[in-house]
Amino acid sequence: MKIKNICCLGAGYVGGPTMSVIALKCPEIKVTVVDLNESRIAAWNNGDLDKLPVYEPGLAEVVEEARGRNLFFSTEVDSAIEAADMIFIAVNTPTKNYGEGKGMAADLKFVELCARQIARIAKNDKIIVEKSTLPVRTAETLQTILDHTGNGVKFEVLSNPEFLAEGTAINDLLHADRVLIGGKQTESGQKAIQALVDVYAHWLSPKQILTTNVWSSELSKLTANAFLAQRISSINALSALCEATEADVDEVATAIGTDSRIGPKFLKASVGFGGSCFQKDILNLVYLCRYFNLPEVANYWEQIIILNDYQKYRFAKKIISSLFNTVSGKKITFLGWAFKKDTNDTRESAAIYVAEHLIEDGAEIHVYDPKVSEEKIKADMSYLWELKGFTEQKIESKLKQIFVYNSAEDALHQAHAVAVLTEWDEFKTYNWNSIFINMYKPAFIFDGRNILDAEELTAIGFQVKGIGKGYIPQLKREPVF
Ligand code: NAI
Repeated sequence: MKIKNICCLGAGYVGGPTMSVIALKCPEIKVTVVDLNESRIAAWNNGDLDKLPVYEPGLAEVVEEARGRNLFFSTEVDSAIEAADMIFIAVNTPTKNYGEGKGMAADLKFVELCARQIARIAKNDKIIVEKSTLPVRTAETLQTILDHTGNGVKFEVLSNPEFLAEGTAINDLLHADRVLIGGKQTESGQKAIQALVDVYAHWLSPKQILTTNVWSSELSKLTANAFLAQRISSINALSALCEATEADVDEVATAIGTDSRIGPKFLKASVGFGGSCFQKDILNLVYLCRYFNLPEVANYWEQIIILNDYQKYRFAKKIISSLFNTVSGKKITFLGWAFKKDTNDTRESAAIYVAEHLIEDGAEIHVYDPKVSEEKIKADMSYLWELKGFTEQKIESKLKQIFVYNSAEDALHQAHAVAVLTEWDEFKTYNWNSIFINMYKPAFIFDGRNILDAEELTAIGFQVKGIGKGYIPQLKREPVF
């Protein structure tokens, strides 16, 4: 079966870039990305490519080439479903914040709604592709809904989890380590798998395309994220020990990373991981383990989250204790708000939680991020406080402790301390001499990403505190007051 028309439900961080690359590489396939969110679709259609709703290096160029040729963004969900041979579901699957499984399980209501809508609209056979990250065995639920509420047409459900990382999404899609496709072992299941393999084969080699049964594919995505996050929590746990013992976490990471069994990647200590996926997917894994009565396994994976929360809290606490045990009324400048560099995504960003702790202690948080707007930053904090049950009035009053700037220079002027929350490259290029002159003394830098040159900054006169840096560089000259 040759795919001619693809529809993708969900024009977010996954649906948008993934479908743009498929359209770029498969010019004979019409790709329509639909979303219920009108403003998001309008932004994808914006003539000004700087205004796309997702910031990713290289994305604008891909959209520019394919949009209007064979790539379309639309809110016309029903007609796109009807016309498609293959439908990707790339909608959000956040952690449930209500009822059974609250705070742990994945909320599948958006996925279920998609299945019901597809079943209602479809008038010919279709291949349904799970692109969203889903608990293992969700394909069974989808198949049941599709078969029992549809118009008697045949649906093949495939699992094709997405492994792109935000910030490098286009490169990851173009040069994927692998794509994974899970399907049934039946003849029609194998045909559906082949149809999707043929799509990816436009630009990936056969050895990059793995095929498995559906359940292995679904579980592999949760497992991949759990393993990746586990490495971060492992090195972060050791960063606390490094600080207590004058070891240097980067030296330890290099020393262990040269062991080929361990490998050098994903061993960078930081203020803690963020992003929409790691936490929610591990919580979901923990929930599944408990559901299948495997408490030891659940507790093992849960520790990754516990450690990550500890790391964010530890960072905030270090700021407070270094600033003479109070940050009340002090100006703390946050460099970065996004959960990592080269993305405008802020979901679960460490910055949110560090800000919360500091605001609780009375700090004024002054933020500069090259890609995140004031509206977004305030929405992130409001959402967190709403979940905590704060009244509207209390939220309004707390928001007055947050100030957002379009320039780093303004954000840093007369600050008591700088906290680096995101590893944006531009922070390394600043004129730290003049920043020092314009700050209150002693001028503190808390480098939550270990990206700045601690020795150079110490020589300028800063008090520098990195993550996992027990060794404090000696002052090379007297501080300038
Ligand atoms: P997102 O929140 O950026 O985008 C989801 C979009 O789906 C939203 O724009 C929403 O309006 C839309 N939507 C919801 N219900 C819909 C419906 N019934 N019809 C049409 N559109 C609908 O989410 P994101 O980050 O793109 O994630 C999507 C899925 O991909 C999640 O399951 C996530 O775990 C997974 N994933 C995310 C990665 C990432 O880096 N963000 C990486 C790999 C997987």
